[in-house]
Amino acid sequence: MFITFEGIEGSGKSTQIRLLHKALLADGHQVVLTREPGGCPVADRIRAVLLDAANREMAPMTELMLYAAARAQHLTEVVRPALQAGKIVLCDRFSDATRAYQAFGRGLNRETVELLNRLACGDCAPDLTVLLDCDTKTGLGRARSRIEANSTGPREERFELESLSFHQRVRDGYLKLAADEPERFVVVEADGTPQEIAGKIFGQVIPRLEQG
Ligand SMILES: Nc1ncnc2c1ncn2[C@@H]1O[C@H](COP(=O)(O)OP(=O)(O)O)[C@@H](O)[C@H]1O
Ligand SMILES: [Mg+2]
Repeated sequence: MFITFEGIEGSGKSTQIRLLHKALLADGHQVVLTREPGGCPVADRIRAVLLDAANREMAPMTELMLYAAARAQHLTEVVRPALQAGKIVLCDRFSDATRAYQAFGRGLNRETVELLNRLACGDCAPDLTVLLDCDTKTGLGRARSRIEANSTGPREERFELESLSFHQRVRDGYLKLAADEPERFVVVEADGTPQEIAGKIFGQVIPRLEQG
């Protein structure tokens, strides 16, 4: 079972995926928790380039190709081997993020984005995608406090510095993707405490795991 978490900056993906990971481990499942861009050394190097706010001049097509390159490596090294070993894979962002950010946000041609996703993923697709939906002001406010609190690591804020209208297009894009594939997506309103949101997610994910 391949489960991805999606949503705008600060919607609570990393918080919620950690809570689900803990709960599934406690239930005795074999679970791999990973993230994109990154998840393995080669892709982590690409992540640093993608998220570094100093790289202001990056062209949208370069951005798209770097995401695809990182994804191809991550699938080869981490995701496919874990799925083949029968593990549950939880991934913080995946191919829907490329659709939402590079097609809806940046305005790249959707077919080009789909082509790059196909090249990177082959036939590997999420079984279930949790979309955390929240308004852009709330999300960006939370993301900003996360960045300010992390004074030691790299400042991964190239996307956080984009305009509210960019993030609004990304949010609307995600909702459109979810509406297009209602069997795969679970849309969760990301307001309330982390525990309240986790309760809503567990309620949707655990029954699906039990169905196989
Ligand atoms: N439900 C919530 N209410 C308030 N703050 C939250 C909530 N969920 C997460 N946060 C905080 O908001 C920031 C961003 O959350 P995070 O999980 O990193 O979001 P994302 O991974 O989607 O960018 C973090 O500092 C986190 O502790
Ligand atoms: Mg995160």
